[in-house]
Amino acid sequence: MRKGILTIAAVGLLTTGGLTACSDDSGDNGAAAKTPKIGVILPDSKSSVRWETADRRFLEEAFKAAGVQAEIQNAQNDKTAFQTIADQMITSGVTVLMIVNLDSGTGKAVLDKAKSQGVATIDYDRLTLGGSAQYYVSFDNETVGKLQGEGLSKCLTDKGVKNPVVAYLNGSPTDNNATLFKAGYDSVLKPKFDSKEYVKGPEDAVPAWDNAQAATIFEQQLTKANGKIDGVLAANDGLGNAAISILKKNKLNGKVPVTGQDASTEGLQNILAGDQCMTVYKAVREEAKAASDLAIALAKGEKKDTGQTVKDPEGGRDVPSVLLTPKAIYKENVKDVIADGYVTKEEVCAGAYAKLCADAGIS
Ligand code: BGC
Repeated sequence: MRKGILTIAAVGLLTTGGLTACSDDSGDNGAAAKTPKIGVILPDSKSSVRWETADRRFLEEAFKAAGVQAEIQNAQNDKTAFQTIADQMITSGVTVLMIVNLDSGTGKAVLDKAKSQGVATIDYDRLTLGGSAQYYVSFDNETVGKLQGEGLSKCLTDKGVKNPVVAYLNGSPTDNNATLFKAGYDSVLKPKFDSKEYVKGPEDAVPAWDNAQAATIFEQQLTKANGKIDGVLAANDGLGNAAISILKKNKLNGKVPVTGQDASTEGLQNILAGDQCMTVYKAVREEAKAASDLAIALAKGEKKDTGQTVKDPEGGRDVPSVLLTPKAIYKENVKDVIADGYVTKEEVCAGAYAKLCADAGIS
């Protein structure tokens, strides 16, 4: 029944929008004549707190400042829900659809459908391989991984560990970003494994970046390595915290450096406590602003030159892109993330963290 209504509505859109919907690759999207309305689909709220605490907030802020109508929904890691939300948004007349895909297959299906109905599309944060988005807005994700590799290496040196065994907790195998992060940290760590300066320990990818599963996986890694893991390359703060929870159980926290990403409140607190070596801060406010600017241009039927492209390794397309610069965060510069308004001092320095904040120069 529900499906029937959606189909009829979609057909209706096709006919009314038919004249302007003949989009081509020049970036025209047929949206010019319609009232701009932007639909955003976020992936979930558990693989990282960023989606609900940062991306939603900063996207809303950017759309509001531009005075444009927008709707932001979260697919909660459900691929069917992701497609249903996209269908509903298209039916409701969005002129631009911005997605953070759950995997490239479903992402591509959604992008292709939107395109066929004259709706412009943007890949937000994650590139959809083989997809058809007009723009891709993200960070330089290989550099994110490079900062993690360099960070782990710096913390192992600071601790004076010789021939450290390094374990990997990679991100979701269906997220192209996870591939890029790994390429980045491998570029730093693989030469050290090859020269036998470091020893490669267990390595696993965490499906859907599932933090709970990451703890189980890390516990198995630690058992497999007979407790001898000296450093953990965890691809984000959630995975890092999962590893830290197991290290705590084994009284190894603080002794074994762990990396992260996203500068989450929890990640920053783990850094202040000495349980996490570093995180990577990505200024999501800038990412949201860049995506919002492009979405608004697309909604007006304008074509913006981003001055940069990224090659889609699957589709072979050069996708016009905006890639922002990530920043490594250690105990010394946790204060920069607070100063940037990404998290508040009240959150990070709550309770027992007040003293640790003071010690780290957070006033
Ligand atoms: C994002 C990270 C995030 C991860 C899990 C990646 O695609 O770039 O910031 O931690 O997904 O949600």
